[in-house]
Amino acid sequence: METKKFTRKEIAERDTKAETVFVIANKVYDVTKFVDDHPGGHEILVNTAGKDASEQFEDVGHSLDAKELMKKYYIGELVDQDKRHNVDRNVNWNLPPVSEESANGFLTSWKFPAALGLLLTLLYTYLF
Ligand code: HEM
Repeated sequence: METKKFTRKEIAERDTKAETVFVIANKVYDVTKFVDDHPGGHEILVNTAGKDASEQFEDVGHSLDAKELMKKYYIGELVDQDKRHNVDRNVNWNLPPVSEESANGFLTSWKFPAALGLLLTLLYTYLF
């Protein structure tokens, strides 16, 4: 069977009062007949109609049963141009590299506390 392809625009333009269609992980689901049976509630599904619900769906941590149930409502995929491959979670793992100066600077390296310790030891030895 050939997979039906949708654009995000097409999904967004659907009549959200008449049907509940959304995108999860680049796949398109029509849950119009399921909204009243959804254990997580009718409203939450209706509110995501026309949108990309991938993140919300994942955040709930849906069970394997739920993921199995989804297959029943699968109606197609997004066209390639509209697919999103990495969900943007606003986490930047690429911290700037530690600069030479701060890595080797006297005040920030181990040398400063070591020198301070030595100095205090000498002071203590000679003064008391
Ligand atoms: C085809 C799509 C979906 C199916 C088949 C589905 C199915 C289910 C099922 C079976 C449960 C019961 C708990 C579990 O088994 O994990 C559940 C709970 C829930 N779902 Fe969905 N769901 C879908 C989409 C969504 C979306 C898009 C959202 C959010 C926008 C959502 C929000 C929730 C919430 C909040 C709960 C309640 C979790 C709790 O009470 O702990 N679901 N869903």
